[in-house]
Amino acid sequence: MAARLYDPEKDFIDTQDYDREELERLLDLIALLKDADKDGACPELLRDVSLGMIFEEPSTRTRVSFEVAMVKLGGHALYLRPGEIHMGARESIYDTAKVLSRMCDVIEARTLKHETCVELARWSDVPVINGLTDVNHPTQAICDIFTMREQLGDLRGRTCVFVGDRTNVCSSTLWITTMFGMNVVHAAPAAYQAPAEWVREAQRNVDRHGGSVTVTDDVLDAVRIADVVYTDLWWWVDQEDEIPERRAAFMPTFQVSADLMSRTPEGCIFMHCLPASRGVEVTDEVIDGPQSVVFDQAENRLHAEKGILVWKTYGRVGQPASPDLRAHHRGAAESFLATAGWDRVHPAKAPSAGTPPTR
Ligand code: CP
Repeated sequence: MAARLYDPEKDFIDTQDYDREELERLLDLIALLKDADKDGACPELLRDVSLGMIFEEPSTRTRVSFEVAMVKLGGHALYLRPGEIHMGARESIYDTAKVLSRMCDVIEARTLKHETCVELARWSDVPVINGLTDVNHPTQAICDIFTMREQLGDLRGRTCVFVGDRTNVCSSTLWITTMFGMNVVHAAPAAYQAPAEWVREAQRNVDRHGGSVTVTDDVLDAVRIADVVYTDLWWWVDQEDEIPERRAAFMPTFQVSADLMSRTPEGCIFMHCLPASRGVEVTDEVIDGPQSVVFDQAENRLHAEKGILVWKTYGRVGQPASPDLRAHHRGAAESFLATAGWDRVHPAKAPSAGTPPTR
């Protein structure tokens, strides 16, 4: 196995870097922060903390959930997209990582290539959180396992059937469900099935935690025992020239339709990471139907991001300064401004600087 170039203690790149107990504690933290939010009392655990958000691809849920999470936790976020920052064009990943580390306390990165995210984490002195790469989508996976636990309770022995293309959400689903002792099935046409290395990775979890991992093209048989049916897009922006062959391979057998869902047991839920192509991988009837939890799942991205940000950042940044220390520095600055004659609009009111009080 290749040496890891990042530090899982600092960064969040892959759920496979953690043991189940640590991920369970993370889910408990997310539940606690969700409850606090529902009471309108989200604790400001990241007061004055800055999050730099790099997006090489578009995003609705990831961008909004991270930004809103930071505001609720007392910090703030900056949206940085290609063309607006120099990374990868006029500046190396190393230099970008070092500069952002001096100005931000934590970085979220959605990068086209997994290696870019890993390289950022490697050189960054502050935590880097993977917001989706061509390999995996770990923040989505945390949200999804939290949603499954919320909806189904104890997950051991439950079955998740992922129907459709071997996307980055598919890999993350195979790994997170088996980490929690679930049975996972990838149901897809042969040319679009999970590769052997993904299955081996899931099998490592099965060996430790129970459950099972199966790949099949028999979707009708697979959903007969499903507690969760999950699907994702059949093509992404760089695959648009493959649409005719992909549509022909998946349609109609692998479309999550009312007919397919009618074959699932009582209590089975439908999940989708979104965005969805309605009428393609899923019908309106299913996504808007009684088994669908897709909007609860989408909301949980917000609560999951709060938990992940606190897990990785709280304790790495200094506690907010005491009111006395703030008053001291304000006084020092205002005295300086008065001395320089730059206090024409706001004359200095604060006490003059002396020995700084302690925190
Ligand atoms: N599920 C997800 O990552 O959504 P966005 O692409 O909108 O962030």
